[in-house]
Amino acid sequence: SIYVDGMIGGTTPAITTDLASLETAAAQVLDPAPLGYIVPSAGGGSTARANVAAFERWRIVPRMLRDHATRDLSTEVLGTPMAAPVLLGPVGVQTLAHPDGELASARAAAALGLPFVQSTQADHSIEQVAEASGDGARWYQLYWPSDPELCESFLSRAQASGYTHLVVTLDTTMLGWRPQDLDRGYLPFLANQGIASYTSDPVFNARLEKPADEDPTGAGIAFAGVFPNPGLTWDQLPWLRERWPGPIVLKGIQHVDDARLARDHGVEGIVVSNHGGRQVDGAVASLDVLPAIAEAVGDDLCVLFDSGVRSGPDVLKALALGAEAVLLGRPYLYGLALGGQPGVEHVLRCLLAELDLTLANAGYASHRDLGPDALVRG
Ligand code: FNR
Repeated sequence: SIYVDGMIGGTTPAITTDLASLETAAAQVLDPAPLGYIVPSAGGGSTARANVAAFERWRIVPRMLRDHATRDLSTEVLGTPMAAPVLLGPVGVQTLAHPDGELASARAAAALGLPFVQSTQADHSIEQVAEASGDGARWYQLYWPSDPELCESFLSRAQASGYTHLVVTLDTTMLGWRPQDLDRGYLPFLANQGIASYTSDPVFNARLEKPADEDPTGAGIAFAGVFPNPGLTWDQLPWLRERWPGPIVLKGIQHVDDARLARDHGVEGIVVSNHGGRQVDGAVASLDVLPAIAEAVGDDLCVLFDSGVRSGPDVLKALALGAEAVLLGRPYLYGLALGGQPGVEHVLRCLLAELDLTLANAGYASHRDLGPDALVRG
């Protein structure tokens, strides 16, 4: 439709279709402090660079004369039907990008038939985002707080609001070393952003001396007391299982032994992820650990992937290397910064269109036919 519009003298898209350029475009519209929180990674950024570089090393080997006239991107992941093997990953503090924040992203996800994963650190509450999602699939991401009563409260609110799947992020029991934020002394959470799940929670409120709206700083400090949870261990997973009836997905798995531990602890899925490089600098690229993990547990567990996905070919490569679906992080946030809900929809449409064309031109009618033989290591 973009080409047709162009040919008949219509408009070209307001936002670039080159998803790799989104970051540069978003940098034109965002203030330095939010930009400095969203874009950078831990330390010197080597993990984030490695994530993107890892995709370049795998090359697609196109096949010819294979009927791909009828194509279908739709799929089902852990019982959730989706229009394509793509989820909007949990990203906190989305009002840093646009005033509508998570509400816009959740609406865009629902409009395109993709699941939205609501972050514990969202700027809109569990209940508000559930309402914005309408009929769209709702998954809830948990940063497991050190206060068990608060954790139970989050879980029961998420269940009551119709979230079906629980994504437990394991790689952020403490915030990573992020020099850009440290140099500015900037942490959105302490400015009362990213803690709507907390400030709308009866258990959290009962811990405060004054209501959060009267004393946002006090609420931010109380949050900082319960968010870090470095004492977490595998032994605590049964506690969570007792409190969440639906599928549990562990996010942040990078070591094949941890993937096996996840399987042995009876969860339904994992996300192979290094948090977009925001936690451990100098870490292995997420894509580089995917094949061994998929090989070890792919028959027993749902294996999802994120960190560094920037294009349709990237999605194809992650699926060929064993992921059932991918989660997007920064790219949709850049779309949000550039155009609110329509901006997120634009980014998602471009990604899905490029995935569809890449699959077709590589000779695949369906992403289900992909396997390791679709790629060579270049
Ligand atoms: C994140 N991510 C994240 N993950 C999570 O489990 N809970 C969260 O609240 C957040 N918040 C968050 C904020 C921002 C600004 C970013 C960029 C990322 C990590 C996210 O879910 C995902 O793992 C990465 O973003 C994937 O990497 P890419 O796609 O950004 O390279």
